[in-house]
Formats: sequence, C-alpha cells, structure tokens
Amino acid sequence: MKYEFPHKDIIDPDQFTKKDLETILTITDYVVELQKAKKINHLLSDYLMASLFFESSTRTRLSFETAMLRLGGKVISTVGFQFSSISKGETLYDTMKMIEAYADIAVIRHPVEGSSRIAASAIDIPIINAGDGAGHHPTQALLDLYTIYKEKKSIDNLRIAFIGDLKFSRTIHSLVKLLTHYNVEIVFISPVDLAIPEMYRKELKKKNIEFEETEDLKAFWDCDVAYVTRIQEERFVDREEYERLKNSYVVNKAMVLASKKNTMIMHPLPRVNELSTDVDSLPNAVYFKQAKYGVDVRMALLILCLQVELPDL
Ligand code: NCD
Repeated sequence: MKYEFPHKDIIDPDQFTKKDLETILTITDYVVELQKAKKINHLLSDYLMASLFFESSTRTRLSFETAMLRLGGKVISTVGFQFSSISKGETLYDTMKMIEAYADIAVIRHPVEGSSRIAASAIDIPIINAGDGAGHHPTQALLDLYTIYKEKKSIDNLRIAFIGDLKFSRTIHSLVKLLTHYNVEIVFISPVDLAIPEMYRKELKKKNIEFEETEDLKAFWDCDVAYVTRIQEERFVDREEYERLKNSYVVNKAMVLASKKNTMIMHPLPRVNELSTDVDSLPNAVYFKQAKYGVDVRMALLILCLQVELPDL
C-alpha cells in the first residue's frame, strides 16, 4: 500500500493537514488488518527505537514500546531524570546527539514545553513528542481521534464535551487542535480557574468552530462524546490552589445514565477521582479500548515516520 506522509517528526498537532489525519486513520486501519494477517511482525526488524521518558508515564511509554516490539523492532529506554546523565548536568542537546548515534527513531517525554522541538532540531533521526509539559501530546490526540472515528464511524457532526483541567491537560490542547479540521461543536466544562487557555478560544473562533464554556457538568448530557481528564497536579505552582480544586468534579454512573445522547466517555488515563469506577461497566466507557487503539495508532506512526513500505494484504 502506498502512502504520502510528509513528516519525519511528530512534534505538534499544528503540523498536520486534514489529508495527513486521514492518512493516519487509514494507515492505522490497514496496519490492524496486516497485523491480523501476521504480515508485519518483522516489518521494523532493522530498526531500533529509543524511548526517552523524563516524566512519568505508563500507557504512552508501554504502548510505544509494545508497538515497536509488535513490528519486530528493538527498543532501548531511559526512564526519569534521576537515572540519566541529565541529572549530572548533561544538556538535552548532548543526550540527543548520542541517541542519534544509537537509534533510528526516538520518542521523548519531557516536562518542559517545546523540548521535543529542541530535540528534533538537534538531530536527524525522527523524533516523536510523547508529551512536553503542559504543551502538547500529539500522539495521544491522534489515538483519541482514531477512537472517535472507530466508535462513532465519523468525526463530523458530533458534539464533544471536554471535562476537567482544560488549562493544563496537554491531551485536550492537542485534540482540540486536531478537531478544528472537522465539523464539530465543542463544550468546555471546567471550574473557571481551569478554563481552556485563550489561544484555543481564538483558534476555534478563527476556524468557525462553535464552542461553549460552562461550569455545569450536566452540559455533557446532550453531547455525543465526553472527554474527561484528571486535574494535572504536577503542573500547579500553588499547592493550595490544587487542594481547593482537586475534588471539584466527578463523573459517575448516575450522571452518565442521565445523558440524553448515550454519551461515549473517553479519558486519556490515568484517572484519579474525577471518573468513578462504576462507569467502567457501562457500554459508554471506551477508555480502556482507547488505550488499546493507542498501540495500533503508534504502530502506524512508527511506520509512517520511518517511511517504511507497507506490504500488500
Ligand atoms: C496523559 C498525559 O500524560 O498527558 N496521559 C497519557 O499520556 N495517557 C494524561 C494525564 O496524565 O492526565
């Protein structure tokens, strides 16, 4: 199967055109089929991925590593600053120069916004941003988009609620940007202190996407999708503010059952207390499936960034 994907790196959701997004969704579907037919388990056997997670992660790191291993590739990894030479004072630039000599592609998570762009400018191998502080998390947004496309069959004509820490959730920042390519309506639900940053409002207005902002959790009842996030504790400079806000919203089973549109509930995970476990048994809950789709999308992204030819089915 032939494809056109004009990106070596995945850094920021702004880099994608609608056509790129369609390519990613289609290639992910194709990769799933190839995997079922056992036709890609050696596809990346000549490649090695460096997995550099300088900030905590379970799903993103393991799903990238799973994706690479399922494609027959190899993985080297470092986790946390304390175990890397960055704790001895090494710059990210120097670390990346060395990684370039070891690996064919690198996935990086780092607490500083813009760090993956700096990393990408330092070296020639493909770099994938797996979360840069409160900035962006483009691969999560792509798997979120894929989840909506798989579960709702189309991304257009949906009313989508974002619930929670809209200020600091990088997954929301990235997904909102991707959704501007589609015909959707957005409802932002959060405490006023955690409202969506102004730059996203401006962008939505510019692209003529209808949106509303409210503190009322019930506003998701007339939405097709509700995307819940935890309060991003690690981004707060003021501990008291976190303590004041930490229990400000909880989506539970009774709330979901009251929705008029049988709202699909998404969450990038991890959850803390903002999404009750009693929602898990409802057919509305897709968050564990969403994590599974993450492996499929990341398999596709590794192939696309490395520009590897796909076999026929
Ligand atoms: C998210 C992240 O790291 O931004 N997690 C993830 O990648 N699935 C969401 C979060 O930590 O709340």
